[in-house]
Amino acid sequence: MYLQPILTVLATLPVLSLANTSPASPVPCKEIRLRKEWRSLTVDQRKKYIKSVQCMLTKAPKSKAHFPIVTNRYEDFVALHANASAGGRDLRQSTGGFAGALGGFGGSMNTGIHGTGTFLPWHRYVVWQYESVLQDECGWDMGQPYWDWYLDTPAAGGSWLKSPLFDPESGFGGNGAKLKAGESGLKGFGAGFGTGGGCVVDGPFKDMKLHIGPGAVMKMGSERCLTRSFNIEAGEAAGSKEVVKDALASKDFQTLRMAVEMPNITFTGGKIERHGGGFHNVGHGGVGGEMGDPFTSINDPIFFLHHTGIDRVWQMWQDQDLQKRISDTGTGLTLKTPIWMGLEAPDRPVGDVMDIINRDGKGFLCYKYETGSEEYFDKPAASGKPAGPVTSTTSAMSTSSTTSTTIQAKSMTTARPPKAMGKGKGAVGPATSRN
Ligand SMILES: *[C@@H]1O[C@H](CO)[C@@H](O)[C@H](O)[C@H]1NC(C)=O
Ligand SMILES: *[C@@H]1O[C@H](CO)[C@@H](O)[C@H](O)[C@H]1NC(C)=O
Repeated sequence: MYLQPILTVLATLPVLSLANTSPASPVPCKEIRLRKEWRSLTVDQRKKYIKSVQCMLTKAPKSKAHFPIVTNRYEDFVALHANASAGGRDLRQSTGGFAGALGGFGGSMNTGIHGTGTFLPWHRYVVWQYESVLQDECGWDMGQPYWDWYLDTPAAGGSWLKSPLFDPESGFGGNGAKLKAGESGLKGFGAGFGTGGGCVVDGPFKDMKLHIGPGAVMKMGSERCLTRSFNIEAGEAAGSKEVVKDALASKDFQTLRMAVEMPNITFTGGKIERHGGGFHNVGHGGVGGEMGDPFTSINDPIFFLHHTGIDRVWQMWQDQDLQKRISDTGTGLTLKTPIWMGLEAPDRPVGDVMDIINRDGKGFLCYKYETGSEEYFDKPAASGKPAGPVTSTTSAMSTSSTTSTTIQAKSMTTARPPKAMGKGKGAVGPATSRN
């Protein structure tokens, strides 16, 4: 009973000591959005979130001047992602097709948003922007929920097919219909893999009409359904504790980004086989269908939960050595590299999105994750350095971290932060501060 307040104070110390490096500056975040794992929302909250997404599908688009193809507010984001995946505004080299979109794998190209250092910062920014639009225009009043894939693996006592994420009533619906022989689903990357491939058959998005893609195609009249093609083994393999732990052990940003993004895939006799790595692939390969399309995966609203989960891993990694990692952008990318957000939001330098609670007051992000990296470690990581985000939730959870990891993963779903945090728009404080 008495332990909790003490732990809370201890856990806030790193924040205070950082703030103390510039004593005159006030703490910039007035409101911190609290992002929770999907199953930590109540069923009513999940339904409300889905409603907000559906609201986006009925609202008028705002980016027609850039992307004539968009038909609703949600598609503003789809067009932006397809465009940015092909190099965005800043085409510095030929980015035709898939090779172009991924042309930077391991290299230093900073156009495009996959296979380059921009991958993590761009997606952090777009998730924030989407979260802001859900709140400002579609009535959502909490932080953007995330998907912790590990919870849906047998090792954590979960199951892909029973994931609350795919629930037809309070989730995003499940697999796509199984394709008949000779029938092709999505004509693009991701076709032919997995157990479905056809239109999603249940849940709130089964009648969703897509207009952008497949691939980088931005031509009118390509209306089609939302497809999925579950590849459960790929999803579970990429979402395993080992894969995330490996990523968290990365010594620098470049290594982390590669660990996140690069699935180790081989093709044997026409069959795709995965050998760990790249949990970016849980969503894209595991959910499959539209999610397997590097340009238009964002057509599936699950995209945002998946990428918020990825952002959380980057954050957990940053938190392990915050002072240093808050400015580590790897090679080929600097804190000044602009991030292209189309008509959706102003370009921002990478440096503006490095710190999710904007300690130096130069950025704009103000959010945190309800749970940290406890579930991935048997003991609290590195003495003196908190493993997870600097929150009281983290400290409360580490007190039980000597028990088995499976139990920890389960207790995660029931752990709740102190009451004050859950108020308002997922906020801790009163006022609003965002771009
Ligand atoms: C992305 O959109 C911008 C603005 O419309 C455009 O100038 C640019 O050429 C587009 N990039 C690609 C790769 O299509
Ligand atoms: C990919 O997986 C194969 C098969 O397990 C392994 O031999 C290889 O070292 C892995 N490559 C990387 C980069 O992890």
